[in-house]
Amino acid sequence: MKYYITTPIFYPNSSPHIGTAYTTVAADALARYHRLLGDNVYFLTGTDENAQKIVRTAEAHHTAPEIYVDGVVERFKKLWQALDISNDDFIRTTEERHRKVVQQIFTKLYEQGDIYKSEYSGWYCTPCETFWLENKLLEGKCPNSDCGRDVELLKEESYFFRLSRYQAALLKHIEEHPEFIQPISRRNEMLRFIEGGLEDLCVSRTTFQWGIKVPFDPKHVVYVWLDALINYISALGYPEEENYKRYWPADVHIMGKDIVRFHAVIWPIILLALDIPLPKVIYGHGWYLTKEGGKISKSRGNVQDSFELIQRYGSDAIRYFLLHEMQVGSDGTYSEDNVVERINSDLANDLGNFISRSLAMVVKYRKGIVPRPGQDGVLEQELKELSHEIKNIVEKKFEAFDLAGALEEIWRFVARCNKYVDETAPWSLAKQEDQHERLDTVLYTFVECIRVMAILTAPFMPGLPPRICALLGKDERLIRWQEADQWGILEPGTQVHKGEPLFPRIDISQYVTTEETKIVDQDQTQDQTQAQAQNETSEPVPALEFEPIKEEISIDEFAKLDLRVAKILSAEKVAKTDKLMKLEVEVAGAVRTVVSGIAKHYAPEDLVNQYVVLVANLKPTKLRGITSQGMILAASQGDVLEVLMVNKDLPGGARVK
Ligand code: ME8
Repeated sequence: MKYYITTPIFYPNSSPHIGTAYTTVAADALARYHRLLGDNVYFLTGTDENAQKIVRTAEAHHTAPEIYVDGVVERFKKLWQALDISNDDFIRTTEERHRKVVQQIFTKLYEQGDIYKSEYSGWYCTPCETFWLENKLLEGKCPNSDCGRDVELLKEESYFFRLSRYQAALLKHIEEHPEFIQPISRRNEMLRFIEGGLEDLCVSRTTFQWGIKVPFDPKHVVYVWLDALINYISALGYPEEENYKRYWPADVHIMGKDIVRFHAVIWPIILLALDIPLPKVIYGHGWYLTKEGGKISKSRGNVQDSFELIQRYGSDAIRYFLLHEMQVGSDGTYSEDNVVERINSDLANDLGNFISRSLAMVVKYRKGIVPRPGQDGVLEQELKELSHEIKNIVEKKFEAFDLAGALEEIWRFVARCNKYVDETAPWSLAKQEDQHERLDTVLYTFVECIRVMAILTAPFMPGLPPRICALLGKDERLIRWQEADQWGILEPGTQVHKGEPLFPRIDISQYVTTEETKIVDQDQTQDQTQAQAQNETSEPVPALEFEPIKEEISIDEFAKLDLRVAKILSAEKVAKTDKLMKLEVEVAGAVRTVVSGIAKHYAPEDLVNQYVVLVANLKPTKLRGITSQGMILAASQGDVLEVLMVNKDLPGGARVK
């Protein structure tokens, strides 16, 4: 099966940013998934260079547009490389192969009467490269929700494209192909827009010369959107070349919601007029917004250097973050602390921790040689069934372009694998002579789980499979999509390695430059209350080596305390404090957040999967904006502190009395 996927071609008026990167990473994940399925994939991206805004930006930089764009295009190419984007082609609209096709199409449309000459009198928004009629403006400004900037009055001779002629045919196509515009919210918007009536579109400009000339009337340059959309076929060598015959129509054009209108109206009408099949799907995703809610965009100047981010956190982590946070039909929020939170919880704690823990056990108990498994038990059967279920769901999510949903499913598998470690407790099996075959089965299953994880995550984080394969002593032939729910693939006897942690935890305070603020934590508040109480009883208390023993209580009073064993699922330092640690703990089947003043004494990775004692019926309190639901017990004297841990096999929720 062939699979042709495209991103928009981006304006090289300034460097790419995290929003632009999202579209390209999403398209890359889809392209990689289809390659894993065995499809013949063609993945196109590029730059849209013949825009008036390019002329303006180049002027502002006192340089010629062609020189200006060359520099920015290099930045795009480098960013895609740094993000492991696997595009097959990169088209620039200033290339000859593109110019030729645009001129040919313009002439054809003119000759068949779809393009005619007239005069344009109306408004133009250069940042959006869009024509607006007076009655569409909002208080005299560009009506685009993310723009609102000044528009300019144009009155010039222009060529027009008869969109109105194809309105009925386009509506019919959309109605007959419910999958054509996705997600459904965008489809409905487009239907309403087209039903409102299409005006003929101005498709040439005479007030500047940068762009593709109308061949039979060279004082006109082709309107940038007509020019840009044609890239999807000019890159394939329309109309004669092999690639065009092999790959057109596109299987999906991916883009942000801001430009769905151009792709769902102008582009299909060009194709209808040329009698060429329409793309199968136009998919419009949401925007990345800042925490404050504004769209991340070059013109708003709220853009963080993408290269610096990749250097800091790695391409896989940034890709994971971007794909994870953008839910179908909504916008995503970008902030650097969210990136760190995702890395620490999903990548370091869940995925990375499973892989290093389980490989460490194969190394410890079997010298790193994958053992031959014995009979499967119920737990292994359950894992296998789950892998089957999850592979099917992930495939459906890919078909629906729901990449965040696919990741959620994959992490359901990762969570189940972590639970499997606790349920099988290999450390106790290792101590029992008659459990060695069971231990072999468990260790073998661990390694197979890692293999399955490498396959499922491959489209999202392409740097990961080679690293996992190296730990498993294999090459990338181990990554076969069809084998994501097949078991018994890795040969017993394979030598595996523990390696370095795949995703080391990140300390955000390293990157946060705000002033260290005063830390208020439970311990301090208690100290203060105690000091106040002492002051109220007037006599100054002499310095004591030990805290005084408190007044007696009855057994009934003690019984009011509900102490429970709690399992620490994740731990991370609270940003901008050096004392507080945020813990997610599991107690009696529920997960709670507890903030504890132990961060000076423990690294988060020393706490994860440990069993501790929790005061479970303490009133919740807010610490640093986080609601803490209980307190964990620790012994301390002077500078020494030790969290009380339960080492026997007691589940989270067991009473402590
Ligand atoms: O529109 N969140 O180019 P462009 C998510 N040249 N995606 C974002 C984003 C954000 N904050 N900001 C930008 C053009 N994007 C035309 C396209 S195609 C024939 C011509 C992404 O450089 C998103 O995909 O303004 C959006 O549609 C695209 O960048 C706009 O890129």
